[in-house]
Amino acid sequence: MSSHPAPSHAAAIDANQPTAETTASPEALSGEKKRLFIRTYGCQMNVYDSGRMTDVLAPFGYAPTDQPEGADMVVINTCHIREKASEKVFSELGRLRVLKEERRADGKDMILAVAGCVAQAEGEFILQRAPFVDIVLGPQTYHKLPEMVARAERAAASKTGRKTGVGILDTDFPLEPKFDHLPEPVAHGSAAFLSVQEGCDKFCTFCVVPYTRGAEYSRPVDDVLKEARLLVGQGVRELTLLGQNVNAYHGTSADGRELGLGDLCRELATIDGLERIRYTTSHPRDLDDALISAHAELPQLMPFLHLPVQSGSDRILKAMNRGHTAADYIAKIERLRQANPDLALSSDFIVGFPGETDADFDATMALVQTVGFVQAYSFKYSPRPGTPAATMEQQVPENVKSARLSALQALLSAQQDAFNQSCIGRDLRVLLDRTGRHDGQMVGRSPFMQPVHVTAPAELFGQVVTLRIVGATATSLAGELV
Ligand code: 5AD
Ligand code: SF4
Repeated sequence: MSSHPAPSHAAAIDANQPTAETTASPEALSGEKKRLFIRTYGCQMNVYDSGRMTDVLAPFGYAPTDQPEGADMVVINTCHIREKASEKVFSELGRLRVLKEERRADGKDMILAVAGCVAQAEGEFILQRAPFVDIVLGPQTYHKLPEMVARAERAAASKTGRKTGVGILDTDFPLEPKFDHLPEPVAHGSAAFLSVQEGCDKFCTFCVVPYTRGAEYSRPVDDVLKEARLLVGQGVRELTLLGQNVNAYHGTSADGRELGLGDLCRELATIDGLERIRYTTSHPRDLDDALISAHAELPQLMPFLHLPVQSGSDRILKAMNRGHTAADYIAKIERLRQANPDLALSSDFIVGFPGETDADFDATMALVQTVGFVQAYSFKYSPRPGTPAATMEQQVPENVKSARLSALQALLSAQQDAFNQSCIGRDLRVLLDRTGRHDGQMVGRSPFMQPVHVTAPAELFGQVVTLRIVGATATSLAGELV
């Protein structure tokens, strides 16, 4: 399951940095520029989808803006993974309703769309509870957004003064994959996401993803390579391959072979100019020999792996339907570390899964001690309607969940801090892909995903440079040019 790098499924990320020129000129078809604001919640898949929605709407005159005020269209790209994540949608909608009404009072309109996994799971309910919403679309239908927007624009024009939204709902799982209908992607920097796989058939008993994102689907190898070459041609140096269960990837190549993720990485590593490859999120069960050996062979494959284990108790892992034991997980980690001794690990954890005893929780703490993680996300179990665990007996009381979460997070933070401190004095290769808060400051990512702050000349922006690490905090590093 997916998460990271920013506090994963909890944080809101604006995928909406104003972009450089897009493939089709925004003015080309409509003659006027309209402002599009997209608020993204959840995983990197949603960040990627928001970027693609921006690309899809560009030829229709929509250009990104970084605030909802004054926008002609607002999309909230939602996350359904935990209860808190989906509650946020309705409070955000409440705020947007006010903006929409203010615009109407000025004789303008604001098309309001809800996309993503809450839309998929609760489409009808959204239209009932928030009738001012115009468009509800699932993750598999955003290529149809222009058509829906055109309908909404027509309805808005014919119904001035209307109080309710247009109420267009499309949460189908079309037979033809949306990727076949999307324009070419536009890079917004030197690091980019590339979606290679979607959906999940694993049915972990706590998780909504198999219901919201549907069955497992892998994009054909050539499509992935084409998109990768295009992005690298636009200056991208680092690609993160995305999938809800990315290492279940099994794409078909032009010559009819089926490639797993390890072989896909081998193909990508032949692209000139692509310096770094990452992938997320993986399932321990699907981590096969070909992928493990890719970590030994490919210098481009970064030595950082987000491999969620969720729990260290075999009893709980079984109840979660994870399909592996704690020992299986540890054995895979050992093999990965043999392939690349530098490999740093990250994970997701759930505490307070139904039936979790003190002994089960101790087993999770023991696993964390054994493996040693450089960062991790941990959550209290949150019952999701329609999932098997939601109706299991022995739900764990809230105060017990909270106490376990604090204990686990203290241990994980200590491990992260120790790892960051151990980086002081090392020379690390860092991709400088963001400007910092201070003059001349830039921020990049180390091979291990740590943000590294440095003062550097502007011409190094977008490059991978070697930095000597001279300082560390609990969550970031400071470097100097070597
Ligand atoms: N409750 C708490 N955490 C959950 N996750 C997924 N579903 C739930 C749930 N119902 C966590 C898992 C997953 C991460 C993205 O979110 O740890 O790996
Ligand atoms: Fe990940 Fe399990 Fe959810 Fe699939 S069902 S997305 S493997 S947590």
